[in-house]
Amino acid sequence: MPKTNHEHILILDFGSQVTQLIARRLRESGVYCEVWPFNQASDEKIKAYNPKGIILAGGPCSVLDDDAPAAPQIVFEMGVPIFGICYGQQTMVKQLGGVVEAEKSREFGRAYVDVLDHSDITTDVWDKGANEQVWMSHGDHVATLPEGFSVIAKSDGAPYAFIADTDRHFYGVQFHPEVVHTPHGADLLKNFTHNVCGCSGDWTMASFREEQIAKIRAQVGDEKVICGLSGGVDSSVTAVLIHEAIGDQLTCIYVDTGLMREGESEQVVSLFRDHYNIPLIHEDASDLFLGGLEGISDPEIKRKVIGGLFIDVFDECSRRVADGGKPAKFLAQGTLYPDVIESVSFTGGPSQTIKSHHNVGGLPDDMAMELVEPMRELFKDEVRALGREMNMPEDLIRRHPFPGPGLAIRIPGEITQEKIDILRKADVVYLDEIRKAGLYDVIWQAFAVLLPVKTVGVMGDARTYDYVCALRAVTSTDGMTADYYPFEHEFLGRTSTRIINEVHGINRVVYDITSKPPGTIEWE
Ligand code: XMP
Repeated sequence: MPKTNHEHILILDFGSQVTQLIARRLRESGVYCEVWPFNQASDEKIKAYNPKGIILAGGPCSVLDDDAPAAPQIVFEMGVPIFGICYGQQTMVKQLGGVVEAEKSREFGRAYVDVLDHSDITTDVWDKGANEQVWMSHGDHVATLPEGFSVIAKSDGAPYAFIADTDRHFYGVQFHPEVVHTPHGADLLKNFTHNVCGCSGDWTMASFREEQIAKIRAQVGDEKVICGLSGGVDSSVTAVLIHEAIGDQLTCIYVDTGLMREGESEQVVSLFRDHYNIPLIHEDASDLFLGGLEGISDPEIKRKVIGGLFIDVFDECSRRVADGGKPAKFLAQGTLYPDVIESVSFTGGPSQTIKSHHNVGGLPDDMAMELVEPMRELFKDEVRALGREMNMPEDLIRRHPFPGPGLAIRIPGEITQEKIDILRKADVVYLDEIRKAGLYDVIWQAFAVLLPVKTVGVMGDARTYDYVCALRAVTSTDGMTADYYPFEHEFLGRTSTRIINEVHGINRVVYDITSKPPGTIEWE
């Protein structure tokens, strides 16, 4: 049954890392959709969901493999429009009687297609005869079309880069319309949902808010919920949304891990207690966390230790909010989609575990509480849009992301109180310069990293032997990919001088110019 009263599209996922971007493009055009793994979609479930259209997404497998994932055959028999993307196109072709060939001419990255014909999906976007940029990522390609299909566009490596069966309203593309590197891709998807499937675009952030409130109420009933606040936008928006849904059944917990930035604790406590009037436990657990991290330098172990300690603290706090002897049954977290996709390996494909983000990885199997994660399908900028929808303070909404493990993952190597103190001071100076230069809102995230390296310097005729500080600043739209920010040299020089002059313990500053990929945003 539909989880929504809105017009909706079903996206069947075959394990691609960018499937959620399709969902995101659809939601940007006001269309509600859900992403289901192909192997969890039974015929009955699909029919009951009654979508206005179905998108078959990409995946890392080859349709030529013996046990290749396939779309449930029912989707081709329901009389609804279908759009196959990359692997989705190939499996549709194979399942409808066409032929897919193994890699002869792989295409990865930017490619160009010749538009040979008109179709409902290219209307007002691509003209017949045009040469258009797209983003490809494929080895296999379609070699023979099933009956009823014709070619709309071709590229050098894909003779059937875009195919259509206009009678049945089945379409397939070899390229990825969902990524920004296919410049008109979002318009092509919109033509599918609006022109072909007849969606009017009735889904908004206001309706997301309403639906999530209803879902939270249904999930939680009259039980108590605790929500970990980190001071960042994700957990703050989560807390405010849940409070709107269940009022004082919610208690927020702010865990001071000793790994927070300067002034963070005061800001969080005053906003939630004084401004929002939400019940809040301010737990000073710095000794616990710093003790637990003693002697540990491996980044994954750090993350797991921190994740485990958070859960211990939350478990303890859940007992403290006990009402009539019943501890909190639910733990709310501001988990976002990029946290999920980088922590889960689906079918062993490209969605591999990059880092165990503390709010998804590191949760013990026997954890007593159940999770409430209303943001799990959202990207950061959508969370910000929801925060604005709820009239949350703009400076909180615009805050740069701060990771759950805090400064621990900005101190490669062993963590000590001395290093935390040094890093905190450097970070304050760096962000002060960024704000003064009017760059805070242009940059997605900026922070200092304290390297486990000491170098020799000379200050006031004396030799110094102190730490190196690396500065990081990136632009991004969703944290999944990022570019380093191209500061002017004057800015870097000024900031470096200030850090070395004002922060004892640092005598050298370097700037990190790695994008993501191949780097990640955080250093660990
Ligand atoms: P990476 O370093 O993976 O970071 O490129 C992508 C974004 O996620 C943030 N991040 C985290 N957030 N818990 C969080 O809540 C974590 O464990 C975590 N690790 C990274 C990071 O700051 C960036 O915005």
